[in-house]
Amino acid sequence: MKLTLRVWRQRNADAEGAMSTYEVDGISQDMSFLEMLDTLNEELILTGEDPVAFDHDCREGICGACSLVINGDAHGPERTTTCQLHMRSFRDGDTIDIEPWRASAFPVVKDLVVDRSAFDRIIQAGGYITAPTGAAPEAHATPVPKPDADLAFEHAECIGCGACVAACPNGAAMLFTSAKVNHLNVLPQGAPERETRVLDMVGQMDAEGFGGCTLAGECATACPKGIPLFSITSMNKEWLRATRRAAKG
Ligand code: FES
Repeated sequence: MKLTLRVWRQRNADAEGAMSTYEVDGISQDMSFLEMLDTLNEELILTGEDPVAFDHDCREGICGACSLVINGDAHGPERTTTCQLHMRSFRDGDTIDIEPWRASAFPVVKDLVVDRSAFDRIIQAGGYITAPTGAAPEAHATPVPKPDADLAFEHAECIGCGACVAACPNGAAMLFTSAKVNHLNVLPQGAPERETRVLDMVGQMDAEGFGGCTLAGECATACPKGIPLFSITSMNKEWLRATRRAAKG
């Protein structure tokens, strides 16, 4: 396949960015999207140009590091991570626009790399449980009903890639935050911090400058792990419950 790539290039966080156009040839349909970018970068290095910076780590759809807006869609045309997107989703002769996540809370670091440390700070605010140290507890000491375990697992699938923020017209982080709140709040192990968790994590989310949720639903559509939209309404209920209890003292 021969492709025209229009790639966002930005030297650093303070520099102005712009789209640059490159031609790549010899791209196999079996390549992943990141391998296609590797091919571009090998050519750029050989010609003495600065390779395109982009985030990646596991390349197995697990870590959430890869993060590209491809032809206007977070992670591109398939519902998967960028690293699991393959070139068979494109046609010979296509022009592909490649941009970083676009959100004020995710400033561009360089080219296609954005700073997602705001997510880390939301997790630090409450994405943990109090657990005694020592030997691992007996597995059946704390019974967890199967529906609750399944629900917790569904939320725990969030890999924190940030596609929800990139897809949201408001740049909201509600789907990410709700997944991280709910996967602990539905379990007995998460009960001791149930109220402080949701209040602190939502407070940190607001402090980071993410936009407000208007339930547009773009986040759940873009999420490569299928975090459901009801995760947000569940978190809103948790937040209201915690707020009422805090008001009562
Ligand atoms: S590189 Fe790890 S999920 Fe894509």
